[in-house]
Amino acid sequence: MGKKTIYAALLGLGTVGTGVYKVLKKQEDEMEAKLGCNVRIKKVLVRNLEKAAARVEDASILTNSWSEILNDPEISIVMELMGGIEPARTYILDALRAHKNVVSANKDLIAVYGKELLDTAGDNQADFLFEAAVAGGIPIIRPLKQCLAGNHMTEIMGIVNGTTNFILTKMTQEGMEFSDALALATELGYAEADPTADIEGLDAGRKVAILACVGFNSRVVFDDVYTEGITKISAKDIRYAKEMGCDIKLIGMARNTEEGIEAFVCPMLIPSSHPLASVNDSYNAVFVHGDAVEDAMFFGRGAGELPTASAVVGDVFDIARNILAGCNGRIGCTCYKEIPVKQMEDTYHRYFLRMKVDDRSGVLAEMTAVFAKYDVSVEQMIQKETRQEGWAEVVVITAKVREGDFRTAMEELQTRESIRSISSMLRVYGK
Ligand code: NAP
Ligand code: HSE
Repeated sequence: MGKKTIYAALLGLGTVGTGVYKVLKKQEDEMEAKLGCNVRIKKVLVRNLEKAAARVEDASILTNSWSEILNDPEISIVMELMGGIEPARTYILDALRAHKNVVSANKDLIAVYGKELLDTAGDNQADFLFEAAVAGGIPIIRPLKQCLAGNHMTEIMGIVNGTTNFILTKMTQEGMEFSDALALATELGYAEADPTADIEGLDAGRKVAILACVGFNSRVVFDDVYTEGITKISAKDIRYAKEMGCDIKLIGMARNTEEGIEAFVCPMLIPSSHPLASVNDSYNAVFVHGDAVEDAMFFGRGAGELPTASAVVGDVFDIARNILAGCNGRIGCTCYKEIPVKQMEDTYHRYFLRMKVDDRSGVLAEMTAVFAKYDVSVEQMIQKETRQEGWAEVVVITAKVREGDFRTAMEELQTRESIRSISSMLRVYGK
């Protein structure tokens, strides 16, 4: 006699939904041996039945009625793969209140409503798992919640956006300017039709919020995360950074400091010897530091049909095992602390500054006088280019300074006539 069958429903049959359908099909023969049960997709919620019919073997599983899924007592796992806030939020809450377990890849939703979703899961002894929401196929939520639970994590730093990593890689390796690299990313299907969320750091910001919550056991929401994208980076910045032994990467950072949590996304110079510097193309990686494990890095595909489906199906299998053992809701919300989140102004960084200044005596003295007023100490100053038009390009690396003070210094510097323009201000990773 066959083993128990656990029924699941898919909400959405786009890139990830289709990937999940395929991965579950490929796993069909092994499921009994692997899990002690079968997991079958009983229903798939879509908007357009006709469009979806070509993607499944049996079109009778398609529906555009949420209540048909919600009211089916046989369905115990719901995979929300539609994206967006509504109706995803309502459907997930409905499902959890009906004691169904939920898997979601929806970072936009979780980075804002994570507490509500996890609390509702907890109140209903249901699982709410979201491994795919942060770095696609790379396991990082489960490692942080389980394998690394014996640590106090102090830093979680990642390249968590494939589109921008692809763009920066092209700019670094082929000297492309941002607009050409973005056009290539669009042509190759890495960048979405509207790339704003990726290139402005918003997608990575949502992932940082989720990582900070899970890593530091304290609630951080998307609004708490400072975000800055890569649109102002030029091939010249990258070339100069290289000359200084650094690469420029869009870094998502969550730090647990004595004064509170720091959570931000911005392009940063990182030493070329750092393991994240060699994460190229559309790959993602998350580098963590804990008081027991020290350093650990997780690398792989942060997006895409099958890599993302891999994480969703891992969550589904976990839930299936919990159902068999009667222990759903075993690992719920892990935010049991209330650590304040620091304002970006109160974080400390070294800075890379590229400026066009008048090419005459006294200009550097004027610049350093402004720096001194705001406690900005100069570590390196290099004159890169001198032009007949009477200007010179200067690159400055500062020592660590409070961001708020640095910004005030920059505002004052920009009022000086001898400072023609500040072309780039980038943070530098490291002590
Ligand atoms: P997608 O390709 O746009 O697919 C979304 C699917 O949901 C489509 O089939 C869409 O149907 C359906 N849908 C949307 N609203 C619906 C509604 N109200 N009722 C029924 N169906 C609805 O999106 P995706 O790339 O698969 O992403 C899905 C989720 O995974 C998002 O939360 C995304 O952030 C997350 N994620 C994606 C990736 C990735 O690599 N793509 C990686 C990690 C996480 P129509 O086609 O009819 O509009
Ligand atoms: N747009 C994202 C990226 C993938 O480029 O990495 C989905 O999170």
